[in-house]
Parts: sequence; C-alpha cells; structure tokens
Amino acid sequence: MKNTTQSVNRQENFLNLEDFKSEVTIASPGRINLIGEHIDYNGGHVLPAAINKKIKLYLRKNGSDTCNIWSENYKVGFSFKLSEVVPSDQEWQNYILGVVHFIEKLKEGSVQGFDCVIKSELPMGSGLSSSAALECGLAKGLNELFKIGLTSEEIITLSRDAEHTYVGTKCGIMDQFAVTRGKKNHLILLNCQDLNYELIPSDIEPYQLVLLNSNVSHNLASSEYNTRRNECELAMETIQKKYPMYTYLVDVPEAVLEEFKEELPQKVYDRASYVIAENQRTLMAANAFGDELFDVVGKLLYQSHEGLSTLYEVSCKELDFMVDFSKQFDYVLGSRMMGGGFGGCTINIVHQDFVESYIEAISKAYKEAFQIDLSPIEVKISNGVKKKKNGKYNK
Ligand code: GLA
Repeated sequence: MKNTTQSVNRQENFLNLEDFKSEVTIASPGRINLIGEHIDYNGGHVLPAAINKKIKLYLRKNGSDTCNIWSENYKVGFSFKLSEVVPSDQEWQNYILGVVHFIEKLKEGSVQGFDCVIKSELPMGSGLSSSAALECGLAKGLNELFKIGLTSEEIITLSRDAEHTYVGTKCGIMDQFAVTRGKKNHLILLNCQDLNYELIPSDIEPYQLVLLNSNVSHNLASSEYNTRRNECELAMETIQKKYPMYTYLVDVPEAVLEEFKEELPQKVYDRASYVIAENQRTLMAANAFGDELFDVVGKLLYQSHEGLSTLYEVSCKELDFMVDFSKQFDYVLGSRMMGGGFGGCTINIVHQDFVESYIEAISKAYKEAFQIDLSPIEVKISNGVKKKKNGKYNK
C-alpha cells in the first residue's frame, strides 16, 4: 500500500513505559482454533478460543490532535495527525491507522489525540492472531478512553474492516470474534454466516492442547490468503449460475460440486471440496467434543491438516513434517497446522503424561530436519479483550 500519510517514525525512548501514566490499560488475547480453518470467509463453522497470551495496550489522552504510538517490543514508534489518517507503507502501523479510521467512520469526531504504548507476549506470524489482538485491543482501548459507546459487534467488524482495507488481508471474522468474545475454559462454536455461537467447555482431560511454533513464517501468507479467497469466490460464482439458492460455499452439497468438476479449474475445485469437507469436520468435532470422544476429534484434526496441505495448499514442508512425525505416537490423538498457514504453529491433542517426551522427540527431529528450534507455547483458554480496573481486568 502507498505511503501517502504524514506519519512520522520515532525511535529511542519516545514513550517510556516505566513512567507512562495510563488512563486505560487493555489486555487483548491471541486465539487458537481447534478446527475449521479457512472457512470463516466461506460461511462456515469454526471452533476458536481466546488464550492467556496477550497484547497489553496502555493509553492516555494527550489533549492534542496527534496520536503517538510506541511498540515496547520493537522499540519503534510513530506519530500521526487525526486529520491525516491514511495507509502507511509500514504494515504494523496500518493496524493502528485502520482502526482509528474505521472508528471515525462510524462515530465521527469521537477520537482525539492519544498516546499508546503496546507490549506483546504474542509471537508474530505464529498463527495466534496477534493482528486481531492488536486491532480489537486498540478499538476497545479507544472506546473506553473516549467513552465512544461502540458495541462488541462494532469492535469486531471495524477491526476486520481495518485489516481488509489498511493492511490488505481479506480475512474472515473468526479472529476478531474470538479475541473479543472469548470465554475462559470454553471453545466457541461460531457460525460465521450469522455470528450465532455456542460455548463448549474446553476440558479434555487426560489430554492437553499443545501448541508448537515451527518458527517459520513464509512471506506468502497474505498474498496467498487473498488468492484462496478469490478462488473460493470463483467457485461460488460458477455454481450460483446454475444454483442461485446457494449463498455460501460450505452449503453446497458435495454432489452439486461434483457437477462442476470439468468446468472449474482443478485447483478451484480442490479448494471448494476442502471447504465443504472442513465445515462438516468442524461440526463433527464439536459434537464429538461434547461427547468427550477426543480420539474422534483427533482424527478430524489429522484429516483437516491433510486437506489444508493437499487441497487448499496453505501448509509448508515444516508444518507437514511436524504433523507426519506426530502420527507415530498413539498418545497424540491429532495434529494440524493452525491459522492462516505457510508457517506458524501446529495444534496437537496430546495425553498429559506424554507431553514432555513428545516435545522432546519432535523438537529433536525437527532440528535435525530443518536446523530450526521448535518453540512449545503453553496456553490456557481465557477471556476475551478486557480493560484493567482497580488492578483487575474486567469485561
Ligand atoms: C487468518 C484469518 C482468519 C481465518 C484464518 C484461517 O487467521 O484472519 O479470518 O480465515 O486465517 O482459518
């Protein structure tokens, strides 16, 4: 995106967290997704949850028409005037600029000059959605700081719009929804067509969810993401010419898709066939979860990965290696890549007695294969974005 903004880059102790008196402090979580990948923008069901790893945002008004932002992790910052909110050529700045733009679009004149320090525990590019955490955290923070009166739905959708327009990734709604609506110890079975959702207790004793960060993040992620979305749209447009009653790809019966096998390019057919199957797997997994059939859930995770890798083509050799390696252990019920793909984490269902030995074995094998260290990420399923009040975080 073109840098037409007058935003000014800043360095070195620009806003010092140590003596920063914040009026509003926000904790905004990352998310996991058990199953239902790349189907939120196809009207599908997904099964995410917010986690206890967060981005913290410290905000205060500054009585001017300028906004000053500082990243404590990267020791960089920038300033921009409220009258000049336009996309920047620095991706991270666009998360901020986009959110301010869309709040102003909804409630003109509601944002005034502010200072904001950002401190993150979420590794970027790991598939834990640090982007949605930043967007929704800032939207929530400004909402509290300036008493704007945005609803949670507005925070979710304006954050998604910021990502579409300013960042340029045509993401679905899952991440922003999970970050905002997450509930401690619950997975969210979210219907992305109408945003109806059901909370499912996340306890899987004697198993545990284990996240393993491959520590690779291939550059393709954003451009290939948009390509996948376009391919799904092409499939839908073609099918709708004959069957206008279908609005979402997930609702097209397999037999109907089959009719288009010759007409659709092979890749587009494969994408559609993955999408339809993944939605069914998510619903099966949610049911199996409710019945404590964790081995069934695990099998569905493996199948999901297979589809993501061979039909949807958003995996990479490192993630495929990790999932394949896991298959030899009976105590690993399931494993798959998580999030947008091309790197990031796998999510694994592992028996609690074997978590350590699993991590040891897979880390060793991964290092041998790629000369890269794996990072296990310990997460607990936690509440959505919150404001800190009297030393505690409240909704
Ligand atoms: C990214 C997007 C989400 C979703 C996932 C894949 O995290 O932001 O909307 O599409 O990829 O499931």
